[in-house]
Amino acid sequence: MDKKATVIGAGNVGATAAQRLAEKELCDVVLIDIIEGVPQGKALDLTEAAPIEKHDAKVSGSNGYEASEGSDIVIITAGVPRKPGMSRDDLLSTNAGIMKNVVEQVAKYSPEAKLIIVSNPLDAMCHVALEVSGFPKNRVMGMAGVLDSARFRAFIAMELNVSVENTHAFVLGGHGDTMVPLPRFSTVAGIPITELISRERIDALVKRTANGGAEIVGLLKSGSAFYAPASAAVEMAESILKDKKKILPCAVLLEGEYGISDLFIGVPVKLGASGVEQVIEIELTEAEQATLNRSADAVRTLVEDMKKLTK
Ligand code: NAI
Ligand code: 2OP
Repeated sequence: MDKKATVIGAGNVGATAAQRLAEKELCDVVLIDIIEGVPQGKALDLTEAAPIEKHDAKVSGSNGYEASEGSDIVIITAGVPRKPGMSRDDLLSTNAGIMKNVVEQVAKYSPEAKLIIVSNPLDAMCHVALEVSGFPKNRVMGMAGVLDSARFRAFIAMELNVSVENTHAFVLGGHGDTMVPLPRFSTVAGIPITELISRERIDALVKRTANGGAEIVGLLKSGSAFYAPASAAVEMAESILKDKKKILPCAVLLEGEYGISDLFIGVPVKLGASGVEQVIEIELTEAEQATLNRSADAVRTLVEDMKKLTK
């Protein structure tokens, strides 16, 4: 393949993302993890599946960063996942330390890469990645909104018994309990869901979306969601690798857009060959803006807590 992606963290999300990247023949893939043998073993397993899955992407595994050299995209999933009863914020200081070490190496070997951050707490980890890499803001972005809106879309399709392909959903804000699903911009075949689903049921779907991560953690008992998160990260990578210019909700550094500054938070952006090519600003109602501001306040507190913890 003429493009290369590195996935850091060969755990549930990372290995599944590597599988999807390879099976879609988007690029060659390097899997990196600190555990000896795991990235190598998973990469070999994926390589042996290639003849059946009919792709020619090369998948390799390593414990060192030399193998990642010259990557176009780096997806970072390294970290500790949430356990039952644990909030994303509990992960703060552990994952901030891991993110710092990882990004130092990534930036050294792939200075032109676009970084897609997945590790939690997502919005805070994006701040670490931007600061440590020294990359411009268009090349550092977080995956959360694509996952959160996919969850909302799945619930809308289940509610109306329609194809998921007919559904579009719009979710703003931080990745957490304060995320902001916007029903009036969420549609089925172009029809706002406010025309199709009662207020009461929309509220229930919105609540289920906001708790989507915790619902899966509660079922799995150990570990958190990974199929949909991997699909979401790969949708972002695909838009960049193929310069598709999809509009996707991603965590990006805002500098005045939506009245928010110096903060990573989820908004719709255009993703193309140079990474984040445009932040799409839409006019929000007073109530929607207030909810977004509350979400931004929660992220800001998290980032400040992280700075104190990691000083
Ligand atoms: P996992 O535990 O299956 O995989 C994490 C991997 O990271 C492990 O293999 C571990 O050995 C590796 N790792 C730890 N420290 C490392 C280091 N310094 N260098 C390289 N690799 C290292 O966890 P999973 O389920 O894959 O989740 C990964 C992260 O993604 C977690 O922080 C989780 O909370 C987050 N996540 C975020 C989502 C989002 O929407 N942004 C959705 C799903 C997960
Ligand atoms: C999720 O939403 C754990 O953040 C992860 O599933």
